[in-house]
Amino acid sequence: MNTILAPDQSLVNANDFLPLEGTDYVEFYVGNAKQAAHYYMSAFGFQALAYAGPETGLKDRVSYVVRQHKLTFMLTTPLRTNNPIADHIYKHGDGVKVLALRVPDAALAWKETTARGASSSMEPVSLKDEGGEVVMSGIHTYGDTLHLFIERKNYNGVFMPGFRAWSNPLFAPADTGLLYVDHCVGNVDWNQMNPRVKFYEEVMGFKNILSFDDEDISTEYSALMSKVMSSGNGYVKFPINEPAEGKKKSQVEEFLDFYQGEGVQHVAMATNDIVKTVKDLMSRGVEFLKVPSSYYEDLLSRVGKIDEDLEPLRELGILVDRDNEGYLLQLFSKPVEDRPTLFFEIIQRKGAKSFGKGNFKALFEAIEREQEARGNL
Ligand code: FE2
Repeated sequence: MNTILAPDQSLVNANDFLPLEGTDYVEFYVGNAKQAAHYYMSAFGFQALAYAGPETGLKDRVSYVVRQHKLTFMLTTPLRTNNPIADHIYKHGDGVKVLALRVPDAALAWKETTARGASSSMEPVSLKDEGGEVVMSGIHTYGDTLHLFIERKNYNGVFMPGFRAWSNPLFAPADTGLLYVDHCVGNVDWNQMNPRVKFYEEVMGFKNILSFDDEDISTEYSALMSKVMSSGNGYVKFPINEPAEGKKKSQVEEFLDFYQGEGVQHVAMATNDIVKTVKDLMSRGVEFLKVPSSYYEDLLSRVGKIDEDLEPLRELGILVDRDNEGYLLQLFSKPVEDRPTLFFEIIQRKGAKSFGKGNFKALFEAIEREQEARGNL
């Protein structure tokens, strides 16, 4: 047993220099934003929200914004080559560029983090339109990924200045019950987990709330290590993974090979009814990893009594894990690009604050079967 629970579980810190109010949006750089937006609407049930492009004064790109409850995704595509967005896609394929964080004061967030050593990606800027003012600023994190700080307390427009409302009244995607970002996981290079943990601690005031070593997260063939970082108030959680030595190639190595560097491995989206959500997503074509049905044979003896019927969980392949505070149900999609890079997790928490350690082995064996089919194990 190598899981280390940090002694202080109360995450509230009166001296938090970077109070975060949650994830504001996730921006993906993609090859074709129009089609990607349609995928998130038709497969995941997001609604059209906002658009920016040449019609709104942008010369080099278009962005579509889709939303479901508190989950907001921006899909951005370059209009020409010779452009940093095009370079990003050429190197990484489609992937997450920005994890945008809601703050009460974007200028202060920038000042506090850059004073502690963050590299600036955007000095504070004030954007205004008839909806009011949004202030944003940004810093670099792992790989080519950015954190933007978004202050929107004086804004009541559709999304933010520069965007216009976008809707498609003839296409009404069903609400699949995806509510908010539970956590976002970053894959970093060999020996880079601890430096990145230090970055989140020192530069952003995060705490390391859970650690998993390669004995926790290993199968017969491959291994990885992970540390979970939480913002001072607990609203934003970033697990950081690095590969570990195994007999064969770790899933984190496969990611690093195909993303060609460090980046966001998965975004976990919360639901209050995982059976309904997953059924809905599957009927819309979202593909999930499958664990063998033997996983369910001794499930209840491992996790104890749960509210859900076992049969739908088995049918849909939903995983269950328990910690000291309760239990959680989770399921992982296959990668949503042709490169084996970014995927999504669907999670329902029933008291548990952990990340499904009891499922790691079954899950990683499922990932290895996929890696093997791709010839990358
Ligand atoms: Fe996760």
